[in-house]
Amino acid sequence: VDELVLCDFPGTICYRIRPVSCYTPPMEERYRKEHELILATGHRPVTPPDIRRALATLGLTPGETLMLHVSLSRVGWIVGGARTVLETLTDHLGPQGLLAMPAHSVALSDPAGWENPPVPESWVPVIRDYMPPYDPDWSSARRLGETVELFRRLPGTLRSAHPHFSLAARGAGAEALTANHAIDHAMGGKSPYGRLYEADASILLFGVGFDNCTLLHLTEYRAEWPGKAEETARAPVRRQGEHTVWQEYRDIPFDADDFSQIGRAFEEQKPGELRRTPLGIGELMLVKTRTLVDFAVGWMEANRRPTSGGEP
Ligand SMILES: CC(C)(COP(=O)(O)OP(=O)(O)OC[C@H]1O[C@@H](n2cnc3c(N)ncnc32)[C@H](O)[C@@H]1OP(=O)(O)O)[C@@H](O)C(=O)NCCC(=O)NCCS
Repeated sequence: VDELVLCDFPGTICYRIRPVSCYTPPMEERYRKEHELILATGHRPVTPPDIRRALATLGLTPGETLMLHVSLSRVGWIVGGARTVLETLTDHLGPQGLLAMPAHSVALSDPAGWENPPVPESWVPVIRDYMPPYDPDWSSARRLGETVELFRRLPGTLRSAHPHFSLAARGAGAEALTANHAIDHAMGGKSPYGRLYEADASILLFGVGFDNCTLLHLTEYRAEWPGKAEETARAPVRRQGEHTVWQEYRDIPFDADDFSQIGRAFEEQKPGELRRTPLGIGELMLVKTRTLVDFAVGWMEANRRPTSGGEP
């Protein structure tokens, strides 16, 4: 035992037993972040009944089609973390419900454009040559959080075929939703995202804001503004022998920079269409896809300027 920790919980002394050999420096950092989250969460962790109550307050009903975006840490320390969120939601939606999450694999981009961090120019052809092509089982969506990673790997979850912008789904209708994801216009009207619009899916922002609302990208295809562009992207799609084959496709340059502003304007101008409820130290928001996307088309057309355009 190398440490005795006095916790900040009133009246509580917490003894933490830490065999020195088990803790490498990266674990120390992880422990610190989680410890801060535990302290911020306060007198009680977030539990499945808390989540169930929040979903009932929002008015989410069994049998719905739901698009989910999660930050675990922004609602506080949850007993069971990502598993609890997913189990509680799938139980709530029931056998007739459908749960979907974006499972984007944007790390499979052309290394020539990498910035955070860049690679030496001489590496670019080598990386292109050996980059493992998109595979729904293998390709990580880890930049979108722990919950997506757990969700897409669960037996029975289906993942669409787009090498950069796949959608993962499970439940009633998941097969039709994820089938035939064409490579051009990845999040457009004919993609699984367009099908979520047709189904008027609910969108649950679990601890996150509108800047994470993928279905607002659908608006970018529908709206017109001065200087709106198209571009060619490249993705690794298959292997030929040991080498990787890249495919070019057409798409718009996505730009989520104004999504938070759109969310604020939506709330102001469509009172009652956005439902909110606190959970732990954060909050959940629920909104219907069609109302949001239709509103956002008008907003973008009125506010986007030729300078818009950026990273997905
Ligand atoms: C990127 C993003 C996932 C980061 O959020 P996050 O809360 O830090 O990450 P996760 O949801 O994966 O949760 C893991 C973190 O929760 C914390 N944590 C650990 N145990 C926990 C628990 N039991 N309960 C809650 N949080 C816990 C830890 O800080 C952990 O971070 P670490 O792995 O670095 O230690 C989030 O900001 C986001 O963008 N989510 C939406 C993604 C999306 O759908 N985007 C749309 C793309 S168009």
